[in-house]
Amino acid sequence: MALLRIPSEDRVIDDVDAIRSFLLPHGIHYDRWAVAGRIDRDASQEEILAAYEPEVTALKERGGYITADVVNVTPDVPNLQEMLDKFNQEHRHAEDEVRFIVKGSGIFYINPENGDPVYSIEVQEGDLINVPAGTKHWFDLCADRSIRAIRLFKEKAGWTPLYTGDGIASSYQPLCFGPNYLAGKGIHIEQAVTLTA
Ligand SMILES: [Fe+2]
Repeated sequence: MALLRIPSEDRVIDDVDAIRSFLLPHGIHYDRWAVAGRIDRDASQEEILAAYEPEVTALKERGGYITADVVNVTPDVPNLQEMLDKFNQEHRHAEDEVRFIVKGSGIFYINPENGDPVYSIEVQEGDLINVPAGTKHWFDLCADRSIRAIRLFKEKAGWTPLYTGDGIASSYQPLCFGPNYLAGKGIHIEQAVTLTA
């Protein structure tokens, strides 16, 4: 389940409905689709897309997306850091960034246009999220440096990062709390895991 953090307010939101309500005014739709018992996390791309066909089709109709694929990032992907460096600086996209996490985890930081404080959304297995076109954001993997996700596109070129040139991302650690948070609640910062470059 996702975790939403507002670092400047030292605030964490871990309730599905509360996360949904927080994100909605920002144009971000958050949802949960079951993974356990439904699909093998290591199934083929085709099997994963087939398993979630009803949800993916509904999303395509709602958001005007044309294609879907499955991205699979693991620590042994060649040039992984180079790839991550493309997205861990503040950027926008010409189209929505839509992800459903099948396995692994990652963290989106959102810098709202309306001056609201920067917040992060840590996404894990079963989380569906969209970052609307034009939203200032950046992304990093968590310490396990792996993620498997369904992506939806109108056109893949729309996912090219358009950098804002603002170095704001360097002020925020790519800090993921991980499943420990949910197991233990009230986790201390020392227990959190950090992605080291
Ligand atoms: Fe992005």
